[in-house]
Amino acid sequence: MYDQAENLRLLKSKAEKGFKEPEVITITSGKGGVGKSNTSVNLALALGELGKKVLLVDVDIGLGNTDLLLGVYPKYNLFDYFINNIHLSDLIFPVNENIDLLAGGSALSDEEMLEKINHDTLRTDLQRIMGYDYILFDTGAGINKNVTYFALSADQVILVTTPEPTAITDAYALLKTLYGKKKNIIINILVNRAANFSEGEYIANKLIKVAQNFLSSTPNFLGFITDDKHVQQAVKLQKPYINLYSQCTASRDVRRIANKILGKQGNKERKGFFNLFRLFK
Ligand SMILES: Nc1ncnc2c1ncn2[C@@H]1O[C@H](COP(=O)(O)OP(=O)(O)OP(=O)(O)O)[C@@H](O)[C@H]1O
Ligand SMILES: [Mg+2]
Repeated sequence: MYDQAENLRLLKSKAEKGFKEPEVITITSGKGGVGKSNTSVNLALALGELGKKVLLVDVDIGLGNTDLLLGVYPKYNLFDYFINNIHLSDLIFPVNENIDLLAGGSALSDEEMLEKINHDTLRTDLQRIMGYDYILFDTGAGINKNVTYFALSADQVILVTTPEPTAITDAYALLKTLYGKKKNIIINILVNRAANFSEGEYIANKLIKVAQNFLSSTPNFLGFITDDKHVQQAVKLQKPYINLYSQCTASRDVRRIANKILGKQGNKERKGFFNLFRLFK
C-alpha cells in the first residue's frame, strides 16, 4: 500500500498528463441469477468494440464468475488482493486490447468476505491505475453492504431485472434502499430476458411508476436484452455471446445499450467514485 501523500502526488501527475476520469458504472440487481454478470461481460466487450478502454471489476467477491464467462484464467483475484496483499496492478488481466479484468471469486462466504474487504483501500488503489474510459463493477445480488457501497459510489447504476414478478419485486426493494440512502443516485433499469422491446419497456415502466409514486424518484429505462438461447449456449462454452454469436439478438441488444451509454457520456458532471481526483484537474 502507498501512503496518502504519494497517492495524491501520483493523482496530480496523472491529471497533469491529461489522464481522464473514468465513468464508473455499477451493475446490480435485487434478485440473483437475472443476468448481471453476462450483461457486465458483454457490455464491457461491446464498449471495447466501440474503442473504449474498460476495466471490468468482479466485486461479487465471494462468488464471482466473470472470468469463467470470459473463458480466461487470471492468476490472482480480489481475494488475493484483500487477503494476501497482492498488489492491484498484478491482478489486472488483459482480456483483449481494450478490456482488462479484475477477477472476483474466493472460497469465503459473503459474511466472511465482507469482514475482510476494505472498500476505501480498493478505491484508492483503483485511482492509481487510470487510463480507462469506463470501470464496470459487477456485483452480487441482494441488498448488502458490498452491493450498496458500489452502487452508491458509482456515477450511475444499471439495475438488472427480468420480467419475472419476483425479480421485479426485488428490484423495487433495491431501488427503495438506494434512493433511501442517496436521493440523487442515477439508476438505469435494464430488463434482461425480455421477449421484445414492448415487454422490456412495460416492465421498466412498472418499476418507474412505483418508484415515482412511493419513492418520489424516477429511474431511467436503459433498454432490454432479449431472452436468447445463444446466451445459455455461450455460457456453457465459456465464451461471451457477443464474441461467439456476434449477430445473435442478445449481441445486437447489448451493442444498442453500449451505444446508448456512450451517447450519454459527457452530459453530466461526474460525482461519484473518484471525487478526490477531480480536485487536481
Ligand atoms: N438474455 C438472456 N437470455 C437467455 N438466458 C439468459 C440471458 N441472460 C442470462 N441468462 C441465463 O441466466 C443465467 C444467469 O446469468 P448471470 O450469471 O449473468 O446472472 P447473475 O445475475 O450474474 O447471477 P448472480 O446473481 O448469481 O451473480 C445464465 O447462465 C444464462 O443461463
Ligand atoms: Mg453474477
